Amino acid sequence: MEGEFLFTEEDFKRIASFLKEASGIHLQEAKATLVYSRLAKRLRKVGMRTFHEYLSFIATPSGAEERDAMLAALTTNVTRFFREPHHFDHLRDSVLARLAASVRGGARLRLWSSACSTGQEPYSMALTLLSAIPEATRLDVRILATDIDPVVVDTARAGVYSEEAVSAIPAALRDKWMSRERESGRTIWRAGAEMRSLIAFNTLNLIGEWPMRGKFDAIFCRNVVIYFEEHTQARIWTRFRSFLHPHGRLYIGHSERVDVPGYVSDGLTVYRLEGAP
Ligand SMILES: C[S@@+](CC[C@H](N)C(=O)[O-])C[C@H]1O[C@@H](n2cnc3c(N)ncnc32)[C@H](O)[C@@H]1O
Repeated sequence: MEGEFLFTEEDFKRIASFLKEASGIHLQEAKATLVYSRLAKRLRKVGMRTFHEYLSFIATPSGAEERDAMLAALTTNVTRFFREPHHFDHLRDSVLARLAASVRGGARLRLWSSACSTGQEPYSMALTLLSAIPEATRLDVRILATDIDPVVVDTARAGVYSEEAVSAIPAALRDKWMSRERESGRTIWRAGAEMRSLIAFNTLNLIGEWPMRGKFDAIFCRNVVIYFEEHTQARIWTRFRSFLHPHGRLYIGHSERVDVPGYVSDGLTVYRLEGAP
């Protein structure tokens, strides 16, 4: 491809193979222009003249940081508060309603946002939880929020959003659990300390090791496996089975589906384990 930087078919293949190995993301050739434009910014930033030079650099030990930046540039982080709102209704009505009494009696409740991007998904889970169990912060209740990209995990942990970003949050919930502030002449909304204390943010690669021990009452894995090949998707769905309580639920993206044995549908893009209540 001709442009500001020389970008050959061979360069594209090296990028695609790096990305698949690092994250499971399968890049189709039709994405070459997108890859060029996302990485051209990186080449400019580090002052390289060709993709060949850039790819040789990221393969060296001193290119490790840039390798992370390249991964971040190639992943899609689009998300929003209460995306696919029916999932949060389902979480409230089918998972939390059923468990609230035992959680109030001291039982443990664990939710996982497994591709949390900049945090809108785990905070939407936290707001749903707090609307069902307002005293959740004093109970054995935690949300694990993870993503492969450390930059988005830092943004999620900071929990600061624009007025526009929070517009999908019901006002009463927003006003109760977030604070409105002025920063550099604009309004921002900050997730409150109480809500933040419910969530543990960490990096985690869905195709790598999962260090968690306990099981989850709900796993959100939405709009990420769509970038993976089918066998990688199937491996992740299969791994989730042993991380779900028998009564647990798996929430996936609107254009994804779970087609490995052991799951049955529990509503639109929601699954439960076969034979489970
Ligand atoms: C489109 S966002 C989806 C965010 C959120 N789940 C939602 O549905 O709004 C996809 C996220 O998946 C993350 N991701 C990509 N590959 C991953 C992997 N192998 N492990 C964990 N996260 C990954 C990206 O960094 C990105 O933040």
